[in-house]
Amino acid sequence: MTDTRKSLAELGIVDAVQLEALFAALREEFDRAAAEARDGTEWEALRVAWAGRKAGKLRQITENWLKPAPPELKRAVGQHLNELRAHLEATLAKPPQAGAAAVAAAEAERVDLSLPGIERYLGVRHILSQVLDEIQQIFLRIGFTVVDGPEIETPYYNFEALNMPADHPARDMWDTLYVETPRPGELLLRTHTSPMQIRWMEEHQPPVRIIVPGKVYRHDNPDATHAFAFYQVEGLAVDTDITFCDFRGVMDYFVKEFFGPKVKTRLQPSYFPFTEPSADVYGSCFVCEGAGCRLCKQSGWIELCGAGMVDPAVYGFVGYDAKKFSGFAFGMGVERMAMLKYGINDIQLFFQNDVRFLRQFR
Ligand code: DAH
Repeated sequence: MTDTRKSLAELGIVDAVQLEALFAALREEFDRAAAEARDGTEWEALRVAWAGRKAGKLRQITENWLKPAPPELKRAVGQHLNELRAHLEATLAKPPQAGAAAVAAAEAERVDLSLPGIERYLGVRHILSQVLDEIQQIFLRIGFTVVDGPEIETPYYNFEALNMPADHPARDMWDTLYVETPRPGELLLRTHTSPMQIRWMEEHQPPVRIIVPGKVYRHDNPDATHAFAFYQVEGLAVDTDITFCDFRGVMDYFVKEFFGPKVKTRLQPSYFPFTEPSADVYGSCFVCEGAGCRLCKQSGWIELCGAGMVDPAVYGFVGYDAKKFSGFAFGMGVERMAMLKYGINDIQLFFQNDVRFLRQFR
């Protein structure tokens, strides 16, 4: 360490060459100290030690070397001192290297809390499962039981016992897919869930209150409103004193629970071989509230399901006394319910399993 408190004579400096080496050594000492300073505090200590006004090395050099320098060295001392001062000032103006690195590291790790998070999608239940569930819950609340039955049926259950003998023209209401069997026409894919009415009544005495959710099949070409396999929910209630009023009340209850309390119901005369009288259940259009729009084709009403009072002829097939018992039945398409409720305009969307469609229904 060069001692700047001693005079040049005391240090043994007598010529320009020695002087140059002396300042070079000083400069090196300073550079080493600057490289070692880690933070603001150490940097400040360095500044005070070298450029401090009272006792910094620059000050001592001025006092101990420059002022008392012999005339032949004075000019050279002044020049070296100015160069050293300029170097110190330039270096001290920049923040310590280690501190800069720390700032850069902290900057890299900074968390921007205003950035949007990474969304990770959870799976969702298929919209049809959700709607099926909702329909079942609505009927479970008023005492119905959920049952299911076979998707491969005999013509007897799918047609005959529902009051459609062979060659009955009403069989044409359902485009039927038959299963290939040795004797053609023995088995078919059920075209509706109504066969379960017969199967249940064969085995149970009234009171009957069941709903039958399940898949049905039709020989239809797929388009925006047709699919060859889709879901229905069948309903059947039979007891000693069930009236048309009970039927209407239950339909009204369901429609209000499923579509909302503002929706009104209307029954329109219809025809099914297994009900008498038969009715189509309509709900007031929940888009325009009856004023008329594209969804309800300007009528203010939307067809929801087929229904009616069980035809006494059906009781004959299951051994019920038609004089003692009465009841009602209905059958609704589940995709249709979902399409109406959620404004879905293509039934094929339910079967394509495109997550962009499915994940909208959480
Ligand atoms: N099974 C009929 C269909 O698929 C719907 C239906 C209408 C069911 C009237 C019923 C009913 O139980 O009483 O088109």
